[in-house]
Amino acid sequence: HRIIAHKTIDSTNLEAKRIVNEEATFEGVILSEEQTKGRGRLGRVFYSPSESGLYMSLVLKPVADLDNATLITTAAAVAVCQAIETLTGKEPQIKWVNDIFLDGRKVCGILTEGIMDMESRTIGTIILGIGLNFRAPKTDFPDEIQSIAGTLFDSKNAVVTRNQMAAEILNRFYDLYPDLTSRSYLDEYRKRCFVLGEQVTFPQGNETIEAKAVAIDDDGGLVVALPDGETKTLTYGEISI
Ligand code: BTN
Repeated sequence: HRIIAHKTIDSTNLEAKRIVNEEATFEGVILSEEQTKGRGRLGRVFYSPSESGLYMSLVLKPVADLDNATLITTAAAVAVCQAIETLTGKEPQIKWVNDIFLDGRKVCGILTEGIMDMESRTIGTIILGIGLNFRAPKTDFPDEIQSIAGTLFDSKNAVVTRNQMAAEILNRFYDLYPDLTSRSYLDEYRKRCFVLGEQVTFPQGNETIEAKAVAIDDDGGLVVALPDGETKTLTYGEISI
């Protein structure tokens, strides 16, 4: 596996896609100090200033029997939580499906994208983008995310380097990845998932549905109990709590 580090780039996910277009068999990791077009889920921007975050994309080939991209994303969330806890002693929690929270604020987001292999019509490559807000003071965030975004460390004086954190996340993730379909990590995911037992809302068509989050199923889906007693499993998207 190759590791490629940039000072600045538009987006490590975009760079990963460009590399795979040139070299279909590429596997490795792209990191950047800064992203000028950091991308979030649902077409959002991911604020990625220089020196205060860890921005990286893992370029992966699917493991055997993988039938569900949510497994990759949920495993990555567990790997990031384990890395943070090992290096800082802090106990991060997960907001389904893959936002990582500390002290009620989002510190990390994950954006997983698949690249289709045109000959076999299957997902040939997976790009797993991880963005961790490391050490900017909270006040550095743009207004629209001030109330929700947080950082791992409060000041510029982090006790852990970004290199250490990147290495720990990668080691944790690559430990889980080959055995992903055993779902062994899902119990830890459930323990860290703070939405379980809570009332949540989610969009459906033009409506907003309210339901109680009751379980994470074996595919990483969120099982919710609707007011009429029916249950429903959400497989992607975003919930509010
Ligand atoms: C989200 O919270 O909506 C997902 C954010 C994902 C951000 C990471 S940073 C590294 C990689 N490159 C990107 O442009 N996005 C992901």
